[in-house]
Amino acid sequence: MGADEPGGERRTLVAGNWKMHHDHLQAIRTVQELGLRLDPGALARVEVTVHPPFTDLRSVQTVLEDRAIPLVLGAQHCHSDDAGAFTGEVSAPMLARLGVRYVLVGHSERRQLFGQSDAQVAAALRAVLRHGMVPVLCVGETAGEREAGETEARLAAQVAAAADGLTVEQIAGMVVAYEPIWAIGTGATATADDAQRACAHIRARLGDLSSPEAAAATRILYGGSVNPDNTAALVAGPDVGGVLVGGASLDAASFSDIVSAAATVRRSSRR
Ligand code: 13P
Repeated sequence: MGADEPGGERRTLVAGNWKMHHDHLQAIRTVQELGLRLDPGALARVEVTVHPPFTDLRSVQTVLEDRAIPLVLGAQHCHSDDAGAFTGEVSAPMLARLGVRYVLVGHSERRQLFGQSDAQVAAALRAVLRHGMVPVLCVGETAGEREAGETEARLAAQVAAAADGLTVEQIAGMVVAYEPIWAIGTGATATADDAQRACAHIRARLGDLSSPEAAAATRILYGGSVNPDNTAALVAGPDVGGVLVGGASLDAASFSDIVSAAATVRRSSRR
């Protein structure tokens, strides 16, 4: 399935980041259950991805293909080099060979817990593009930055560090996820207004780096304590093109409820 509806409207994107959860057997069960639960009507309006741990990717890919489950395969991270002496890392061409379509780049957990720098994020993003996949660039401010009124400056800096120098087509085709760090795994979701304001700011900065037309096409997601009850309000923001879901994506019932909630939002004037 393509990214767009037949009428030219861009489909909402709902992405499930499993982080370090679910071994390959649990992953198989989860995607099989998602295949049964996801409402075909919702899938016509919502593109759904899952981003399992590396060890699950081959199993999930096989199940999706064998059973024609309309989920798109994603990964959580990759190295910027295509091959080399980088113990423990996985490269973009390895993911592309497995049928991975979307790769998270610069998730705050990679940045904060594993020291991923802006330069490494930019290089990984280019590796994903080089191998024909779609980067999902994650940006977001800490609680301290938010309290100091530095949210917009932080987002602008992260977007510029990763996307400066990309072509207008690359910017139009990428995905950005606004994930305020204080909202991740805390139950403290950003308000729909905050999410919309931050996504609009990110889009404006992408426009500065490319063109307003290119940036209008970029899909920008909100992530951070998304659940079935707050999804519809969040994706109602005209600049919010979907959600990146952590904890609530691990369970097929809650994740399919999020997809159904996202599908209830009409997209007439949406990006
Ligand atoms: P939670 O949905 O568990 O807050 O995680 C958000 C996230 O980090 C998704 O990438």
